[in-house]
Amino acid sequence: MDDQSIHHLREALRFSPENVPLRLHLAEVLLNTGRLDEAEEQYNALMKLADEDIAKRGLVKVFFNKGNYSKCIVLLEVLMEDYRDDFELQLLYTKALYRENSIADAVAAYQRLHELQPDFKDEELDEGLKVRHLQEEEDMLESLDDPTFLQKPNIRFEHVGGMDGVKKEIDLKIIKPIQHADLYKAYGKKAGGGILLYGPPGCGKTFIAKATAGEVDAKFVNVGLNDILDMWIGNSEKNLNRIFETARNNTPCVLFFDEIDALGANRRDMKQSAGKHVINQFLVELDGVENDNENVLILGATNAPWHLDPAFRRPGRFDRIIFVPPPDQEARAAIFTLKLANKPVGSIDYHTLAAKTESYSGADIEAVIDIAIEEKLEASFSSGIPKPMETKDLLNAIKKHKPSTAEWFTTARNFALFANDSGLYDDILKYLKIKK
Ligand SMILES: Nc1ncnc2c1ncn2[C@@H]1O[C@H](COP(=O)(O)OP(=O)(O)OP(=O)(O)O)[C@@H](O)[C@H]1O
Ligand SMILES: [Mg+2]
Repeated sequence: MDDQSIHHLREALRFSPENVPLRLHLAEVLLNTGRLDEAEEQYNALMKLADEDIAKRGLVKVFFNKGNYSKCIVLLEVLMEDYRDDFELQLLYTKALYRENSIADAVAAYQRLHELQPDFKDEELDEGLKVRHLQEEEDMLESLDDPTFLQKPNIRFEHVGGMDGVKKEIDLKIIKPIQHADLYKAYGKKAGGGILLYGPPGCGKTFIAKATAGEVDAKFVNVGLNDILDMWIGNSEKNLNRIFETARNNTPCVLFFDEIDALGANRRDMKQSAGKHVINQFLVELDGVENDNENVLILGATNAPWHLDPAFRRPGRFDRIIFVPPPDQEARAAIFTLKLANKPVGSIDYHTLAAKTESYSGADIEAVIDIAIEEKLEASFSSGIPKPMETKDLLNAIKKHKPSTAEWFTTARNFALFANDSGLYDDILKYLKIKK
């Protein structure tokens, strides 16, 4: 439309300023011809005249085209409270977020957009959001080849108190196959499969996995599941595949999936089919049917094994499922000893401390020590002289921190009693001294 016609429209409006359709028409024409300030003026006038939402819809587009994305987003959020399933608004919202560089929000908004219209494609968003994520992924995969990435955590098995059974299993299934690859080959034994650690919080699952990294002379990759899952729709599968592929090309390689229940929620529980695909992909990768998983060693940890799809437990997948209980008395003494090693202490009666901390997790013991230190610090302020910690200080701290594992066992007990078909949770029953 040319300036002449716009002029005529304006003239007409002068005679009937309350003609809403006419003003709306003018506003749209102005918007479409890029005369944004004038369009804004008209929509503002419409706000007073007509249904505010119509005017707001126009303003949103004006702000968007002006590149005023934050204003656009604010107004959209107001509008979308009433128009949740409005595709046009959702699209503008996604683009505005993207252009404002709120990438995480843009991805979420784009996912929502796909719920409204599954086959929707948009070059800018497809390119932009994917590229960024692929870039992050690229960086991560590149870092696999970068020796500095393998900054070994400076903890080893010797820093883990107790857990002898777990150490032994990890040694047999993960460390030995790497150290004695030739022997394994000679006997035609393939190294692979995975160990899944489960148990109450704070009892050292993550800690021992990190210590495994310090122990093995191999690539150790801590796979951040949430990073994978948060990524671009449909990309989760691809990401998983690439991680496994990279691991296969860099054997021996240990992949550690922490809090694996985030991924492995029972497929039946998954309302979103997207989640199902990720699990299936994970299973395919674990099986390594198309590709050989030899010397790709897998460690997983969870405190909700019952939420895991049973398919995870088939042979060749997580074929060792290990219960990591709270530390026993001996282990607690060891943990106290380890954690107090570089602190100012008098002569500590570790035996007594261990005896007084039944059901305390490793994390609880750390908390106890922390409390004792704080109190010691406070007491030192007046004198300015650091006094060593004594057994009684720690015993006092123990009274102030209750063990945190009980709650987990309340849940675990039920699963062990009522959903223990394959004897999977026998170790829990044994720990709780319940006879089958
Ligand atoms: N056996 C242990 N020896 C030494 N330190 C331990 C031990 N168990 C736990 N800890 C300490 O407690 C902290 C918490 O343990 P960790 O994070 O490994 O628990 P987790 O089992 O992974 O818990 P969650 O289920 O909540 O993830 C560790 O950082 C570590 O310092
Ligand atoms: Mg953990």
